[in-house]
Amino acid sequence: KKVVLAYSGGLDTSIILKWLQVEYGCEVVTFTADLGQGEELDPARKKAEMLGIKPENIFIEDLREEFVRDFVFPMFRANALYEGLYLLGTSIARPLISKRLVEIAVETGADAISHGATGKGNDQVRFELSAYALNPEITVIAPWRKWDLGSRTRLLEFAEAHQIPIAKNKRGEAPFSVDANLLHTSSEGRVLEDPAEEAPDYVYQRTVNPEDAPDAPEFIEIAFEKGDPVAIDGEPMSPATLLARLNDLGGKHGVGRLDLVENRFVGMKSRGIYETPGGTILLEAHRGIESITLDRGAMHLKDELMPRYAELIYNGFWFSPEREMLQAAIDHSQQHVTGTVRIKLYKGSARTVARWSEHSLYSEAQVTFEEDMGAYDQSDAQGFIQLNGLRLKLLATRNRKFEG
Ligand code: ARG
Ligand code: SIN
Repeated sequence: KKVVLAYSGGLDTSIILKWLQVEYGCEVVTFTADLGQGEELDPARKKAEMLGIKPENIFIEDLREEFVRDFVFPMFRANALYEGLYLLGTSIARPLISKRLVEIAVETGADAISHGATGKGNDQVRFELSAYALNPEITVIAPWRKWDLGSRTRLLEFAEAHQIPIAKNKRGEAPFSVDANLLHTSSEGRVLEDPAEEAPDYVYQRTVNPEDAPDAPEFIEIAFEKGDPVAIDGEPMSPATLLARLNDLGGKHGVGRLDLVENRFVGMKSRGIYETPGGTILLEAHRGIESITLDRGAMHLKDELMPRYAELIYNGFWFSPEREMLQAAIDHSQQHVTGTVRIKLYKGSARTVARWSEHSLYSEAQVTFEEDMGAYDQSDAQGFIQLNGLRLKLLATRNRKFEG
């Protein structure tokens, strides 16, 4: 029996590692991904070795470029928001982790994968639906749904009994649970559990309080090609480098904080604090460039599809035919979404202040309030309004007859 574990190097997944060895007698392979969570990965290797994992069974990989290029950017082409506000920073990372877990299982001859998500959340669903979509034969072991280590006390006892080092600050209860990657940091649970209580300031980790942000605004220019950002202020950058740069800029200006109560797929509501500095700038800029390069019909259809697309990602259906169908339509719409947007960053906000493109559909000749230049004949509008108004007039006449 061999199992590939999504291993962060933290206390919870270290306990899971040991538990898989002890309770299942499994040979454990660890997989630790760098998704831009901003933590050193070397300690994870050392800890895995210390817990008895053979060097050839320790997989540590930098997935930052793949994450942004193949997951984050495709999602941003859709302007995806769950329940109107959430930029899906955790949701979009899970399918990539599962993809690698399943691939490493094949490489190492393992028949199972394991993860540290609880039985109450969305992440278990995302990990497992992705895994089954990619390998229908795979077995998933979800320790949080099986073991009797439900309480923090039992967990710490188990750790102590098995010589798993517990960082000093972890002995007392950690004040909230965090998930971070290049797109966002989320904080949930414990001190945040009462949505009637404002989140304490120490929860925020990668954005300054907008009130403490610089008093001078900062302007940046983001260039897009076919719907994806490719350069900042004229400097071309790889996807992960570009998002990291936007994170720095957004963080400095307090952009992208969100305090949200959302509906989990498993049924309950949960409260989360999200910080998505670069993503918030990117959404604004992408809408800015679309505003001049997308046709109205295409834009409005995209906006209708978007909530459905976002819900699929939230619920864990990245690897599903319906997500791929929507993606094909969205990608097709981006053929001419090429050009540049100037964004003003100032005390928590990121606003489009200018946009231009060779592919622009904007016609000053048509829209101008100045003297007509022959591009648009105002007298055409009379018939347009008369025909559109015909049925409204018929209705009003009929209703007047019965309602007086
Ligand atoms: N509620 C968010 C989501 O479902 C964030 C989940 C955070 N996950 C975590 N393991 N801390 O996408
Ligand atoms: C968890 O329950 O493991 C984290 C929260 C979530 O998945 O929604």
